[in-house]
Amino acid sequence: MRQCGIIRELFYLVRALSTRIKKIIKLLKGLLQRFNKEQPSVHPKAKPTIIPRSDHTISRTTIHRNALKVLYRLHQEGYQAYLVGGCVRDLLLGRQPKDFDIATNALPEEMRKLFRNCRLIGRRFRLAHILFGKDIIEVATFRTHHENAQEHHGKTHDGLIIRDNVYGTIEDDVWRRDFSINALYYNIADFSIVDYTGGMADIKAKRLRMIGQPEQRFQEDPVRLLRAVRFMGKLNIEISPETEACLAKSSHLLTHVSPARLFQEVLKFFQEGATVPTFKLLQQYNLFQQLFPQTLFNPEDTHAQQLIDQVLINTDQRIAEGKSISPAFLITAFLWPSMNQQARLNRSEGMPAYVSLEKAIQTMLTLQTQRLAIPRNVLVSMRDICLLQYHLMSRQGYRPYRTLDHPRFRAAYDLLLLRSTAGEPVEELALWWTEFQKADRAGQEQLIKRVATQHRPKKKRPYNRKKKVT
Ligand code: CTP
Repeated sequence: MRQCGIIRELFYLVRALSTRIKKIIKLLKGLLQRFNKEQPSVHPKAKPTIIPRSDHTISRTTIHRNALKVLYRLHQEGYQAYLVGGCVRDLLLGRQPKDFDIATNALPEEMRKLFRNCRLIGRRFRLAHILFGKDIIEVATFRTHHENAQEHHGKTHDGLIIRDNVYGTIEDDVWRRDFSINALYYNIADFSIVDYTGGMADIKAKRLRMIGQPEQRFQEDPVRLLRAVRFMGKLNIEISPETEACLAKSSHLLTHVSPARLFQEVLKFFQEGATVPTFKLLQQYNLFQQLFPQTLFNPEDTHAQQLIDQVLINTDQRIAEGKSISPAFLITAFLWPSMNQQARLNRSEGMPAYVSLEKAIQTMLTLQTQRLAIPRNVLVSMRDICLLQYHLMSRQGYRPYRTLDHPRFRAAYDLLLLRSTAGEPVEELALWWTEFQKADRAGQEQLIKRVATQHRPKKKRPYNRKKKVT
């Protein structure tokens, strides 16, 4: 009897304990979940500041007529329609926007029905392109941040956003944008500006400020590091201290970005007409070295830095004059000092001059393409421009005419001029080619003769000839 009582008591004890243990486990689980839950990068839904038309400078006369057509059509059909992003920022700063982007609550399929000239693009996130001849107005349905979405599979363990495909409201859309100055919405309904993030104050203060926690936002998408520098360079604005502190220590994050995306971002740097300040910033924040790890920055090699400085100055001048720029030429200029150094090294090991250069080009391009996915046609041009540096040196017989006829001669000659300006000992060669291009056929022959007499080739001695021992 007594034994039965003990067993019963033990049973109750175990049962009580197990409920306690279950409770403790539940409690621990809850704590763990709370601990693991990310700090929301999004602000809890905040009320926006509405800046009425009378208090801002955006006039409809400065908005592209096709963008206005799309905005009005959406509005008439009962949808919300806003100009958003870079165009609002640029208009407020008194600059000409590159393009006019629209955000709306209309779904892509609804837009297709609304606009006959509409194409839906993108697989991950569908965007509507409204076509007006060559002109395209991009319209995006409001997106939401992944924390707000039902699916939570949008981030890798590094916090990198890999999917971005959930529709939301304007309140969701605003917090997934990068900088406050890029998150202002111009409302076609009453011509006001909707400001959730303090972007207007930042525009007035000419300040670049990341929305949310800079550390987390840079981690989510490290391309924001490059965007930050691009906006600082081209808009000539300051960066807020918290955003800068994070920018200064995050360059390593660029290794998480695909070479294809990095190349696209690098192209944008070249096209803004502010490459001089932007590339200074890229160097200052250690980002240039991430993009072009092969570019030499040896403080003793002033030629390399001068060459890069000069090519950037020329690029900005060309953009200011409305001329086109060649990414092949620019990247070649960045890599030339390293190629030249590698070629010298190859030569010192006994390789013939042309092979030394060819091998150096191959090595540098292979290394560079691991970081930037430079398209094949650009690589072919780069290789030609570099190899022509060798051919430019041979000025005998028919060779100069063949070099002059090469489709990449002009770019190669420009690089030669740059090398000369940067202090490489090629001044005489550069002057000769300047004269050669201007001269008529008789003059060209004279120039070739002049070189032949100046540089009469030394009698060739067989390579590795052993000295006679007497
Ligand atoms: N955007 C973002 N994060 C990115 C890319 C874009 O938040 N990585 C948002 C910003 O609101 C940005 C808008 O999308 O303003 C449009 O992006 P984009 O056209 O790439 O740049 P813009 O800001 O318009 O600047 P620019 O035209 O000078 O490239």
